[in-house]
Amino acid sequence: MPTLKELQKKYHEQTAQSRQLFERARQVLPGGAARGATAFMPHPLYGQRSNGAILTDVDGNDYIDFNLEGGSCLFGHCSPIVTDRVKAQLDLSEVQSIASTLEVEVAMRVTDFIESLEMVRFVNSGSEACAITARIARAFTGRPLIAMCEGHHHGQLDTLLFSHYGPPAGQDNAPATVCDSMGMIEGIEHGVIMLPFNDAQASAQIIEQHADRLAAVFLEPMTIFGGAIPAEKEFVATLRRITQQHEILFVVDEVPAGVRVGRGGAIACHGVKPDMFITGKALAGGLPVGLYGGRRDIMEPLLSPPYDRRTKALSSGTFSGNPMVLAACCAVLEALESGEVNAQLNELGEQVRQRLRELANRTGVAVQVTGEHSIFGIHFTDTPPRSGRVVQNNQLRADFSTALMAQGVLWPAGRIAGFVSTAHTPQHIDQFINACEVAIEVCA
Ligand SMILES: Cc1ncc(COP(=O)(O)O)c(C=O)c1O
Repeated sequence: MPTLKELQKKYHEQTAQSRQLFERARQVLPGGAARGATAFMPHPLYGQRSNGAILTDVDGNDYIDFNLEGGSCLFGHCSPIVTDRVKAQLDLSEVQSIASTLEVEVAMRVTDFIESLEMVRFVNSGSEACAITARIARAFTGRPLIAMCEGHHHGQLDTLLFSHYGPPAGQDNAPATVCDSMGMIEGIEHGVIMLPFNDAQASAQIIEQHADRLAAVFLEPMTIFGGAIPAEKEFVATLRRITQQHEILFVVDEVPAGVRVGRGGAIACHGVKPDMFITGKALAGGLPVGLYGGRRDIMEPLLSPPYDRRTKALSSGTFSGNPMVLAACCAVLEALESGEVNAQLNELGEQVRQRLRELANRTGVAVQVTGEHSIFGIHFTDTPPRSGRVVQNNQLRADFSTALMAQGVLWPAGRIAGFVSTAHTPQHIDQFINACEVAIEVCA
């Protein structure tokens, strides 16, 4: 069994060209990369190509990818299911200055696939979709506040950028709303009320306390970057009941889960219908997309023309509903139509979680495996985490990630959840489990 130091050294040696490129990149890109998520320490890994479940870096190292760009690549990288359609669309038109037939097609398909979506709008990212949904909720109800759960992630815009990153603040049953970045709009945190995730009683009390000023309660029914922790049945039922009672909109954010889970998304497993639903990522199989929508009586009056700033909510964007992205969405939704792909993915996810649990028992290390469907999380805690409060351990996560990358498995440290795709074979899963065994032993 190698030591952690040996694996770190191996990773260092096998990524010499990435390190060299980092020296060039850092002159023009802060942290040497285009976005926070890929600017990880000690240096970013620069990719050369990706295909199926495999990502190849500039040094020629192959990694089995369990990140899949936040779960976006349902069929693995560069699947012809997606790329053939996008290439064909590129020959037809890259952008259109008018509405496209594709947006009608995708809207029809997605509203059929996700029951709570009666009407939809497209944007370019999950962050945009979340921020605009909050705006719509405030416009529809005429109330100023949004409630969300501590540890949940609703994108990078100021509107909902609170209390996702640690350390947690406030009491376990009364978390504080903390700005997750410098430079946010002064006082913006006063527009957001924080709820303790999976604590139904305390959350109900907090919602009741602010009920007449609350426009919406946001929830990730399956937190992804908050630790791959599912919302408990009682918690979801309580939020739905209490929001209905006080005419507060119940907004479900399934940017990574959504179509990856199956018909109706993760919320359908709770037998609950939200007022608004947000998704993205896997919907376009690896192209940039965000989508929001929900009840017709909310969407239609606020978004139908003519636009008037006194009576309407603004939602537009130059590249929203881009034909190439929509061609990809169309291909994904067609491929998911029969339900077989979701069943296959969910079964594979269950196998991974089962084998990780067996591994944890075998090693005797205090490791908890979370997740549902095709999503999984690994936590170095004594008991299964019910909220993101207990999953922070950045150094351990970074070491675990490096130990995996040295063995040809990509699971970047900052990305707490792992995903499988239809391109992952039993051999890939075996290799992953073997790599995890070594990584758990050396990090414990
Ligand atoms: C639940 C959730 N909402 C919103 C977002 C933001 O999506 P995007 O990164 O496309 O802006 C994410 C991103 O990971 C997410 O996990």
